[in-house]
Amino acid sequence: MRRVFVTWPLPSASLDRLAAVCQVISNPREEILARADLIRGAAGAFALVTTLRDVVDAAVLDATGVKLVANVAVGFDNIDVDAARKRKVLVTNTPGVLTETTADLAFALMLATLRRVAEGDRLVRAGAFHGWHPGLMLGRDLHGKTLGVVGLGRIGRAVARRARGFSMRVLYHGGRPEDIGLEPRSLPELLAESDIVSLHVPLTPATRGLIGAEELGRMKRHAVLINTARGDVVDTEALVAALERGHLGGAGLDVFEGSPERPDPRLFAMEHVVMTPHVGSATVETRRAMAEKAVDNVLAAAQGQRPPDLVGG
Ligand code: DGY
Repeated sequence: MRRVFVTWPLPSASLDRLAAVCQVISNPREEILARADLIRGAAGAFALVTTLRDVVDAAVLDATGVKLVANVAVGFDNIDVDAARKRKVLVTNTPGVLTETTADLAFALMLATLRRVAEGDRLVRAGAFHGWHPGLMLGRDLHGKTLGVVGLGRIGRAVARRARGFSMRVLYHGGRPEDIGLEPRSLPELLAESDIVSLHVPLTPATRGLIGAEELGRMKRHAVLINTARGDVVDTEALVAALERGHLGGAGLDVFEGSPERPDPRLFAMEHVVMTPHVGSATVETRRAMAEKAVDNVLAAAQGQRPPDLVGG
């Protein structure tokens, strides 16, 4: 039986399916493994099932000798895909199953930021709501605004579809529309015209720092930036500076720069910033579906078939 090392306890139904075909060794604890423990656990295994917190670089591939890395995430910037390709190691991800869930969160952040949802919740909990008055916590409308989608892949398109229900005009940069109602723009044009800019690009060398001081400076004063993609796509220093000088109307951030991600503490006091702890795909249903997809990929490879979600190797 081929051995599979799993770095995070998957739902038992998925682990059972894997165990019917492979010898499965899983980290029993809901804790990110130290690099040395990951290497020790995966050494000699056929496949390694990872989360996006597990860094799989050339040294890990060489030390373990695994033939497949199945990432339980759609993003795979934690894996050195070039190093894997050179070593003929297959890499898979979990596309499709988290699209709608992540798009829901992007919309939640848009609404929360524009309608001051988190700030209102804090006010009520602080016992500071003493009855309605006409000037209380005025936000701004989402419906009818112009949304700029940067990266019109699966998730970007799902966000654009939702925007239709909010009577929004949708601009996009990068990717292919399935919908003729969406308007293509260069990045500078999109930034200048949008009331809300939502990021949906993967983290690659080309997208690292894609939104910096110049890009933020192009955005409308009072526009809102939404990031459910990767923190490193945005230059945090530039974002904090833009928010501090009142150039932006706010930001809705689910992801943060660094690995592990570290929200900049200067954001904590900003009422016009809404932050969530990288929970774009974090629903019970979607996390189950992601685990199932990772298992599908391992089982295909273990049975000599081409894994359905191959990204490299
Ligand atoms: C992904 O899949 O890349 C998300 O960031 C976490 O699920």
